[in-house]
Amino acid sequence: MSDFISDFGYSPAPERTKVAVKERYGLFIGGDFVLPSGDKYFPTYNPANGEKLSEVSEASEEDVDRAVASAKDAFEGWSLLPGRERGKYLFRIARLIQERSRELAVLETMDGGKPIRESRDIDIPLVAAHFFYYAGWADKLEYAFPMRKVSPIGVAGQIIPWNFPLLMAAWKIAPALAAGNTVVLKPAETTPLTALRLGEIIAEAGLPNGVVNIITGGGRTGELLVKHPGVDKIAFTGSTEVGKAIRRAAADTGKKVTLELGGKAANIVFADAPLDQAVEGIVNGIFFNQGHVCCAGSRLLVEESVFEVLMRKLRHRVSTLIVGDPLDKNTDIGAINSEEQLSKIKYYISLAEEEGGEIFQPDVAIPQRGWWCKPTVITGLSQSSRVVQEEIFGPVLAVQTFRTIDEAILKANNTPYGLSGGVWSDKGSKVFRVTQAIKAGVMWGNTYNKFDPASPFGGYKESGIGREGGVFGLYPYVQLS
Ligand code: NAI
Ligand code: MG
Repeated sequence: MSDFISDFGYSPAPERTKVAVKERYGLFIGGDFVLPSGDKYFPTYNPANGEKLSEVSEASEEDVDRAVASAKDAFEGWSLLPGRERGKYLFRIARLIQERSRELAVLETMDGGKPIRESRDIDIPLVAAHFFYYAGWADKLEYAFPMRKVSPIGVAGQIIPWNFPLLMAAWKIAPALAAGNTVVLKPAETTPLTALRLGEIIAEAGLPNGVVNIITGGGRTGELLVKHPGVDKIAFTGSTEVGKAIRRAAADTGKKVTLELGGKAANIVFADAPLDQAVEGIVNGIFFNQGHVCCAGSRLLVEESVFEVLMRKLRHRVSTLIVGDPLDKNTDIGAINSEEQLSKIKYYISLAEEEGGEIFQPDVAIPQRGWWCKPTVITGLSQSSRVVQEEIFGPVLAVQTFRTIDEAILKANNTPYGLSGGVWSDKGSKVFRVTQAIKAGVMWGNTYNKFDPASPFGGYKESGIGREGGVFGLYPYVQLS
């Protein structure tokens, strides 16, 4: 693509796998794709060029009813199936995902804008790993919950965001099915295509009809799913604002709710840390997936004595990042997921200026068409500034300094969020002390943004309720007696 020109003289390495995308997609209900009752569709774009990729159905109230009824009808048969049989279906889905991994990676990148290197090497392998992992639990629930009678909850309504579209679908669907629940899943409006592909895979795996239903639509469709009396459990990942609205909507019902919401994680670098390694971790922490990551290391806390040297190294490293065609295998930073998200990020960058921040952006070319943001590093802001306190969800890092461990802990904990964090130090005892003191569900020591289906993920404070991943990821989907 001639739009994408490198400043560094690297040779473009475009992904050549072609993925067929239909002009229009129906809703995956009862094991098959069906037309939406209201005959309404909306576009999904390729954020790297702003062009329409396809149209997907907008599920109406009637469609939500149909999907929930289908999940309800399938529940008895599915929940009574021996765990080892349920596990076989999950293993089959996992294997089909592996077989179609390249296609899924390309489609994820086309619909959402993330670099192909990430969708190919991180997202899609983790999607398969998640199904494999929970397939293993399906016939071992009595070991997960010893001395308890374990039953599934019923129909799970699952609403997911656009930053890790297929991975979030896997995080939601795999534990629900392993525990014997049935599902209605709604992907985000800007990235519905891989979830719909998963519908095809699920049909190919021969999963009994109605065990998983996938309906597309916007916030209104999500709201209808949350309010539906046939839904027994809601699992949501997305903005804190919508998470709170869902909690309110469920308050008057018996529905169980798990929420995975925003974050504003601190990546804390001590003077004794291996600084070059820390720089890699800082870059990965904030620029992975354009910073559209709830657990992103969006605040950097640096011990004052190494501030200058670390910043010099960081600016140099950020200047070497390749921003451009997400389908190029060299690309480090892809496209911003949507025009709305780009304006939100731009708003925060201008707010940082108003708040007295100093803004660094490397002098790199960015494509003319599509939605792009250069990697941005902001220094000189105070703890109370909005750019330090609020989730931006873009490639924007706010840098602060500290002098003592206690000050670092205090600053790290001083936001409404508590999802994740990172600590960099040569001293194991220091890493241990700080990771224990940070009020966050996920902590990394001398690394960042590492994921595994066996480790639990979730938040403290306004970052959410409940855990996904590991044996803990089964809890929201079981009734114990
Ligand atoms: P959002 O929370 O509106 O969207 C997430 C999902 O919720 C989508 O599937 C959407 O259709 C659905 N939804 C929207 N309104 C709903 C409602 N009233 N009831 C039920 N479902 C509803 O997030 P949005 O607007 O795409 O992004 C806004 C900000 O949220 C981002 O800038 C970012 O800061 C944050 N965010 C955080 C995520 C995370 O993983 N923690 C993921 C996505 C966004
Ligand atoms: Mg899209």
